[in-house]
Amino acid sequence: MRKQIIAGNWKMNNTVAEGIKLIEDLKPLVKDAKAEVVVCVPFTFLSEASKILKGTNIKLGAQNVHFADKGAYTGEISADMLLELGVKYVIIGHSERRQYFGETDETVNKRTLQALAKGLIPIVCVGESLAEREADKTEEVIKTQIVNGLKGLCDVSRIVIAYEPIWAIGTGKTATKEQANETIGYIRKVCAKAFCPDCAAKVTIQYGGSMNPKNVSELMAMEEIDGGLIGGASLKAEDFSKVVNF
Ligand code: PGA
Repeated sequence: MRKQIIAGNWKMNNTVAEGIKLIEDLKPLVKDAKAEVVVCVPFTFLSEASKILKGTNIKLGAQNVHFADKGAYTGEISADMLLELGVKYVIIGHSERRQYFGETDETVNKRTLQALAKGLIPIVCVGESLAEREADKTEEVIKTQIVNGLKGLCDVSRIVIAYEPIWAIGTGKTATKEQANETIGYIRKVCAKAFCPDCAAKVTIQYGGSMNPKNVSELMAMEEIDGGLIGGASLKAEDFSKVVNF
């Protein structure tokens, strides 16, 4: 049995005051969740979030980490800084980072290796654009992202992979359960070949892209899908708790 992980990706939403309210509302609603529950909050909220999450079943996540230990990298954040605040998970290579902030498979790779070396669990995002899917390039794109983005990893089961088709993110357009299952199955196959069959069988692979209370149960019922990375629906306690308690 693979570990099931449902992670909220708050993106650039919620001030500290708003974050506190959301977490306090969420706590009682998710306390009996069978899956691991994670909230990936903005950097400005990490310190407060780690205090109010103590003693709960909700784990803390960040949305990026730099590959250097420290130094002249204005605007970046180091693994040690995150660890000091009780962060366990970190999203790496989200399509919005790739699209708007020049993130590449190479930087994704460096950030992932650094996060692992420091003891954080990377949630590495991969996914194709609509044009790539329509041109029948989904597998080619995903394979490149996995092989280059995860180069040098000894045990791929130490990370979490999030398959997020770009055309499904924030659009209300979900991949069908068959599409998501098929592509995640393909990711597992690529991992088996690039790393080892045993760790590929064990790695948790999430689906992300307009996952919500309505579609979560059918997606989670699919054999290859081990969890979700949730944007919009993680910003309301009731919606997120319904996803978590799928
Ligand atoms: P969404 O975002 O659930 O709003 O589509 C998912 C993500 O970008 O991680």
